[in-house]
Amino acid sequence: MFDLNTTTIASIIADERDAIANMANVASYLFHTMHDVNWAGFYRFDGTELVLGPFQGKPACIRIGMGRGVCGTAAEQRMTLLVHDVEEFPGHIACDAASRSELVVPMVVGDRLVGVLDIDSPRVGRFTDDEARLCEDVVRLLVEGSDW
Ligand code: SME
Repeated sequence: MFDLNTTTIASIIADERDAIANMANVASYLFHTMHDVNWAGFYRFDGTELVLGPFQGKPACIRIGMGRGVCGTAAEQRMTLLVHDVEEFPGHIACDAASRSELVVPMVVGDRLVGVLDIDSPRVGRFTDDEARLCEDVVRLLVEGSDW
């Protein structure tokens, strides 16, 4: 069905509670498992804005304000955003000009925003609703399995 699965994610983070170590391994797993993906990783919320965290892909924008771009909008609204075509998303931040579609899942611990998972693809319409739900499950496992 899908290339990625939550059983593997659970086993990758099972023996470790360090959030940065777990984000690093999850970013690597997603990047190397999902097809047509050119960036996969995390931005951490520092209490004011989003700051670049563990990722795989080309170097990216370091700081993103709340409400800015797809990541800042998903973080502010605490809502998963699936952008079919980034050129149709006003304010999209083009870190890598190759990115054409994007999926961002906010990470919330209790009622505290701790960051977002961001996945980019060079293909328009790469991400499906089912995959967005699966990535929400990935984030849930990561949030529950790490200390923040
Ligand atoms: N495109 C994102 C910025 C982050 S990079 O894609 C890694 C955005 O609009 O928020």
